[in-house]
Amino acid sequence: MQSSKISESAILETSYNRIDWQGGYESLYQEFDYWIDDIEGQIPGELQGTLFRNGPGLLDINGQRIHHPFDGDGMISRISFVNGRAHFRNRYVRTEDYIAEQKAGKILYRGVFGTQKPGGWLANIFDFKFKTLANTNVIYWGSKLLALWEAAEPHRLDPHTLETLGREYFNGVLSTGEAFSAHPRLDPSCQQDNGAPCLVNFSIQPGLSTKITIFELNPAGEIIRKHAYSVPGFCFIHDFVITANYCIFFQNPVSFNPLPMALGIRAAGECIKFNPHQPTRVIVIPRNPRGKEDIKILETQSGFVFHHVNAFEVGDKIVIDSICYDALAEVEPQSDFRQVNFEANAPGQLWRFKLQLQNGTVERKLLESRCCEFPSINPANVGHQYRYLYIGAAHAETGNAPLQAILKIDLDSGEKQLWSAAPRGFMGEPIFVPRPGSEREDDGWLLALVYDAAHHRSDVVILDARDLNKGAIARLHLKHHIPYGLHGSFTSEVFV
Ligand SMILES: [Fe+2]
Repeated sequence: MQSSKISESAILETSYNRIDWQGGYESLYQEFDYWIDDIEGQIPGELQGTLFRNGPGLLDINGQRIHHPFDGDGMISRISFVNGRAHFRNRYVRTEDYIAEQKAGKILYRGVFGTQKPGGWLANIFDFKFKTLANTNVIYWGSKLLALWEAAEPHRLDPHTLETLGREYFNGVLSTGEAFSAHPRLDPSCQQDNGAPCLVNFSIQPGLSTKITIFELNPAGEIIRKHAYSVPGFCFIHDFVITANYCIFFQNPVSFNPLPMALGIRAAGECIKFNPHQPTRVIVIPRNPRGKEDIKILETQSGFVFHHVNAFEVGDKIVIDSICYDALAEVEPQSDFRQVNFEANAPGQLWRFKLQLQNGTVERKLLESRCCEFPSINPANVGHQYRYLYIGAAHAETGNAPLQAILKIDLDSGEKQLWSAAPRGFMGEPIFVPRPGSEREDDGWLLALVYDAAHHRSDVVILDARDLNKGAIARLHLKHHIPYGLHGSFTSEVFV
């Protein structure tokens, strides 16, 4: 691993090789529990708390390969920072379907993203039972550790042992089978709750028209507001953003043809078609269910969005920063995700959208053309004007490639800093952790898991968010790799 200044000149063609990258998609079968003692640099003493991460840990069931990483069983990694030391533990989320497949030693269920039961279409025709997962995010809120997946209820875990406790229904406010998305947003000072923090989440029930439900949870982990809306058309929505007054969703221009899924030929995720000539709809839902304002739907140029960075209100405008793709890369039944041709796909790029609610117009502007994904900001700025963002990025300035770097962008000055783990390191989602007591927006640390192909293991990397050019202040070498994950979060509480 090296700083960007050295590696930009050293790596002329691609910044990675495919065999190295593929190593991060091997299953991790073992569950570990140990103090990390192979450390370069020093863990800051002020960094106290717990980093939780979730992602598909199994890319096969007893040697039978799954078709897409998003179909992989959720594995929670927990890195606890205490008094300058760090402890690692990982556990699989024991969903009912995980337990059944591990017991059977074979694939028993279809996966939403293309995993089929062995035996061809005859074994899959008219089977609408898709595997329930808990592999996308993990949050600690209201003294509950919750593994999240957007198509089902959360699974609650014991934060001390990572043991799976069962599905969470929030005292019955969530009903059986009701979804709770994997992308909650934490409002640091909710207007409706006299400035108390509040967790805002949603669920999507797609169909010919789509039901969007908003949930708001108090610090005790109770759902205190729940309201639902119907919007025209099919929705494939993975993430959203909040401001003080609104929840905002991007309805990607896609259509869904369920017939090949019913016939057992394709999975649900393979039946989604991107329509480049249709606009993206921006759905603006007021957060206060008792207010007089109606839901508004605006339109902007086509593109596909998985993740947003943040949103905020400025006068009568709403500003939204999002990672947009020119098109959605479609999942093909016969394809192997390990052989993906990065260069053939559109990169994610950072765009800023400005919504004018009064006249229904949307302006958009490209902020960063480098391939990037998995943004993070200071949690105090969620839903508010902000200056700094941190995001996983490709090593090279142009083209589509695996994430190998972290990019910091100063949205006021335009200044950028890049810390790259190329050529043999592959970057996961960075998480910004504020330094306790600091008022400065970028005063804190960035924590990320980096897959190191040279040693087939993962590092927990700690960077000083004020200055990425200093290089990593600590690299904690794990004893094993962690398969490429999705999302995670940090809490100042320590669990060892
Ligand atoms: Fe996500």
